[in-house]
Parts: sequence; C-alpha cells; structure tokens
Amino acid sequence: MERQHQLLSQIATNDGHGENSPYFDGWKAYDKNPFHPTNNPDGVIQMGLAENQLSVDEIIDWIKKHPKASICTPEGAHMFKDIASFQDYHGLPEFRQAIAKFMGRVRGGRVTFDPDRIVMGGGATGANELIMFCLADPGDAFLVPSPYYPAFYRDLGWRTGVQIVPVDCDSSNDFQITKGALEAAYDKARQDGINVKGLIVTNPSNPLGTTLDRETLKCLLSFINEKNIHIVCDEIYGATIFSSSNFISISEVIEETMDCNRDLVHIVYSLSKDMGLPGFRVGIVYSFNDAVVNCGRKMSSFGLVSSQTQHLLASMLSDEEFVENFLAVSSKRLEKRHSIFTKGVKQIGISCLESNAGLFVWMNLRHLLKEQTNDGEMALWRVIINDVKLNVSPGSSFHCVEPGWFRVCLANMDDETLEVAMKRIHAFFGEQKERETPPTKTKCWKKNLRLSLSSRIFEEGIGSPIAMSPHSPLVRARN
Ligand SMILES: Cc1ncc(COP(=O)(O)O)c(C=O)c1O
Repeated sequence: MERQHQLLSQIATNDGHGENSPYFDGWKAYDKNPFHPTNNPDGVIQMGLAENQLSVDEIIDWIKKHPKASICTPEGAHMFKDIASFQDYHGLPEFRQAIAKFMGRVRGGRVTFDPDRIVMGGGATGANELIMFCLADPGDAFLVPSPYYPAFYRDLGWRTGVQIVPVDCDSSNDFQITKGALEAAYDKARQDGINVKGLIVTNPSNPLGTTLDRETLKCLLSFINEKNIHIVCDEIYGATIFSSSNFISISEVIEETMDCNRDLVHIVYSLSKDMGLPGFRVGIVYSFNDAVVNCGRKMSSFGLVSSQTQHLLASMLSDEEFVENFLAVSSKRLEKRHSIFTKGVKQIGISCLESNAGLFVWMNLRHLLKEQTNDGEMALWRVIINDVKLNVSPGSSFHCVEPGWFRVCLANMDDETLEVAMKRIHAFFGEQKERETPPTKTKCWKKNLRLSLSSRIFEEGIGSPIAMSPHSPLVRARN
C-alpha cells in the first residue's frame, strides 16, 4: 500500500478532495442503505443532496415537443456531423447568446450579459477552479464567508493550491456578512503572512438559502476595491428563488457603484440548480476583466461543455415562453416544498433560518445538543442518521462557527418521500417535545436524549471513516 502510494502524485493522494468529512459520510450511509418506498421503506432518506428534481417534467415535455433540438433524433440528425465535430473553446455562438440572455432573464432583465464574455467550465465546479487558476497562485488565499459550500475545499484549492480563509459569520445577525468580519479575517491572514487575492461569496447562499441585499453587496464591493483584491460571486442559485424578494446580482450593483474597478469582478454560474441539469456540466465564468476572459477561455479547454449539450440548450433557452414558464413553475414548486417543511417542523418547536432561495433550509437544532460543541453536534447527527434515518448535513461541514445547525435538502425527492421524512421527524423530535412539557419533565427528556446520544458516540457506524472505491457512486456525486 505504502509503495503503491508513492507511485502516485502528492496532489492525487493528499486530503484536498475533502472526502473524509461528515458531509460525505452521510452520503456513504445513504448509499449503503438507501430508502425505497417498497423495497427498503426503513432505509436512509437522502436530504444531503442539493439537487433540483421538482421541475424536470417540464424539461422532458419540451424535449418531446422539440425533437429537432437534439442531434440524436431523426429530425435533428442532419446537424450531427457539424455539431459532433465542433470543438472550438469559444463555444457555439448560439449557445453563448442563449446563455447570456438567460443569465439576464434570471437577474430580472435588469442587466445584460455580453456573449463574448461567456467562458465555459465543467459545471460551477470547473468554473470555480478555472477562475482560481486565473487569479491566484499556489499558497495565495481567498476569503470565504462561513458557513460555506463544503466542496469549496476541493473546487477552489485541491489542484490549484489556493487556500481558503474563512470569514466567520454567526446567528447573532442571521449570518450576514459584515465589513468588520471581512476586515478581521483579512488582517489576520495578512498577519499570518498569507497573500489574500480575493473574496468569494455564494449569492444566494449555500447552505443558508438567503440572498445578499444591495447594501451588503455594496459593502463587499467597497471592501475589495479598498484592498484591491478580486471578488468572485458564485450565483449558481440565481433563479432558485421562491419568495417575493428578488435576487440581486453583483452585476447590477457594479452598474450603480461609482469608482468600482470592474477588472476585479467575476461571476460564476451554472445550470445545475436553476434548470436542474447537474449532469450536463454547464458552468460559466463571466468576468468583467478582458485579460481574465482571454486566459480563462484558453484554460476552458480542460472543461468544455459538450457541443451536443450546447446545441440542445441553445435551442431550449432561446424559447422565451418556455423559459418564462419554467422559472415560474420551478419557483412555485420550491416555495411549496419550503413551506411544507418549515411549517411542519415549526409544529414541533424547530425553527429554520428565514430564507427565500436555494434547495434547502438551515435548521436550528441547538436546543437539542448535549453540549454546545462540534462533538455535541456530531453526536446529534449520528442519532439523526442512525435512528431517524435521514441524511442531513451538520453545520460543521460548512465550517459553521456555531454548533447545532443542519442543512436539510428538500428538492431532490418526490412528495411521498418528503412525507415519510416529515413523519420520521415528527415521530422522533415530536416525542422529544412532548417530553419537554410539562416543565417538570424537561430535564427528563433532555437527559434521555443525552443518554441516547452519548451511548451512540461510541457505537461503530457512521462517523467512522469508510473506505471507498473510486467507482462508488458517491465518488462521482457532488453538491
Ligand atoms: C455554491 C455552489 N457552487 C458550486 C456548486 C457545484 O455545481 P456544479 O454541479 O455546477 O458543478 C454547487 C453545488 O452544489 C454549489 O452549491
């Protein structure tokens, strides 16, 4: 094993993929015992996957009605030769135009995007890595407000050698990013001799499901301009919005901000969430900096979107009526999911951070922790996955500084599976709540829960690293 290890590169064998974290352990638990309504009704329900499966029927309908859009149908086969042989890293002009228009539509038509600035990446994963390669050298750092997407370690840093410097945010102001927190993280990094090249934010946020308001975006712009560092906005959830308050893109705010150096501003986008097409691997880097567009385009050779996919999407996204309807339907269905879940858990005294976006909620279980530490959080997480059989993701895997928060994904399952999940939550947490009243018994249920938690900490099972074959479906999975 040792000899075999030495045969591989240090990059290939280092821990930079981040696979040994509870975030991925939960997926392994699901993979070993996946829920199925008839074949395995007691299995683990996957609530750790930020996938949007709620409106796929709309896309399938469109595809059936437009057989010409595919080069693999009798109606579209005449285009096969041209499209299959196309490998220009600029991308099909009609694809760039369609995606630029779609990005404008997602941002409420208040901004337009130049098709000549569209650079392709393999999903937002590839796009985030590509922009890091363009902006930073190994050892340089990007500030990332916490809690943040766990796979950022892999995407931003594994192969590029870029470091993440967390900007700690907490529930005292609903995890909003403040100038003070940014300054503190920046100063500390500088004191530690780290060269900070930029700030990356996800807006709307994964895992919070919240959107940044105009004031905060302005504050971020003023911060990066003062320091003369870059800002990358990962706007992958830009249309995954379900309440009246709009998503505001950084592209809008730079229009209104005097003295903003646009060369420092870059957007990452993808169709994985808003259109529910993670398998298509459509990622976009949109930079306002000409040099970044040029070098990013050359680098995009490593992660082009297949020309077959470009061709199909050029046609689909140019259908304005379809796009309009799809976004409206998707938003309505997401809102319904969100409402069923948040109202359901509220009945048993569980609250979630108020949110208006994303495919998940940020659930507060702090009151159920035996101790307010990461160990306390992991103990509760083990009970949830082993006993309640739900794979939710613990806040610590998002680098949350406050223990007791959990991300729960809601859009990767059908209504019936959600119903089963809600029943399990009610049965387990509702029982705890009942024990909580009358007050004389409060101590009793907490003690019971604590006992059951502590006995499980030592149990074999989830939480102990599970060896994985590179062929396991989990190795392929993301989110
Ligand atoms: C914030 C964020 N960025 C990037 C990604 C990766 O997306 P893609 O599937 O397009 O690579 C995800 C996926 O969950 C995400 O949540």
